Amino acid sequence: MTTPPRRVCVTGAGGFIGSWLVKLLLSRGYAVHATVRDPDDPKNTFLKQLEKAPENLSLFKADVLDGDSLRAAFAGCEGVFHPASPVPDDKTVDPEKEVMAPTVKGTENVLEACSAASVQKLVVVSSIAAVCFNPSYDHDRLKDETVWSDKKFCKEYENWYSLAKTEAEEMSLKYAEKNGLHVVTLLPCLVFGPLLQTVHLNTTTKVLLFMIKGGPDIMNNKFWPIIDVRDVADALLLVYEKAGSSERYICSTDQIDLKDVLNLMKSMYPNFSYADK
Ligand SMILES: NC(=O)c1ccc[n+]([C@@H]2O[C@H](COP(=O)([O-])OP(=O)(O)OC[C@H]3O[C@@H](n4cnc5c(N)ncnc54)[C@H](OP(=O)(O)O)[C@@H]3O)[C@@H](O)[C@H]2O)c1
Repeated sequence: MTTPPRRVCVTGAGGFIGSWLVKLLLSRGYAVHATVRDPDDPKNTFLKQLEKAPENLSLFKADVLDGDSLRAAFAGCEGVFHPASPVPDDKTVDPEKEVMAPTVKGTENVLEACSAASVQKLVVVSSIAAVCFNPSYDHDRLKDETVWSDKKFCKEYENWYSLAKTEAEEMSLKYAEKNGLHVVTLLPCLVFGPLLQTVHLNTTTKVLLFMIKGGPDIMNNKFWPIIDVRDVADALLLVYEKAGSSERYICSTDQIDLKDVLNLMKSMYPNFSYADK
């Protein structure tokens, strides 16, 4: 008699990080419930073509603002991974609707749906945006998992993404303590790498595209902590399998100055126009 595969759900499975995680989980023999907002949208077709998808992948239509759709997707799953949340690429017009609600209320719905569906473990994809935005931080000190962004400061500077990720992560860890759900949070830095999806471009990839397609003449030589998307998928599975409840993990492998990113891209793709100041 063969043992049935372990069953987990990935929210936002059609996204940059979500899709690499789905691919990894399938390759490790997991049965995956993949949530997308529109299973009929051609941008999600690639998921069905992943190796082992025919036998082990089921697509579920779910919006994080709709608790019923989440409960249906989580039913029968031992674990849930929650990367679904908007990453704004432009000036936000309606922060509550575009960023805060899907990130904070959306995560609350995910937490409650996990409890309702008797899910044992949840991995929430947070971000270093929930760590870095803090004016009183001592810049000589290495940032680690004890550091949080300052919500008041985020609001003042209208950094809705950092505010939303901070609130959602804080709430997740509090929920774990209060309700006995095993929750781990993973905080990737800037994620780059190959795309599995063929239609949708995520925000960090759009930044690279902007830089090679005649973007700005002058760029601020910022320091970027970076990681490959495939390492993020590995890290998500690692914390799922190994981490204790309420643990928080920053996920970063390298650091690079923006001018070095530009030089690297120039050497690889010399025929584009780049910022030269
Ligand atoms: N990329 C990075 O550098 C980076 C760094 C740190 C943390 N993160 C975090 O990683 C996660 C994934 O980011 P990504 O780069 O993979 O972005 P992405 O490709 O844009 O993926 C985001 C996913 O969220 C889904 N989504 C948005 N609003 C939703 C809603 N109301 N209901 C259900 N699904 C919704 C989108 O689904 P649709 O296809 O239906 O729009 C999409 O699949 C996010 O939580 C982000 O904060 C990313």
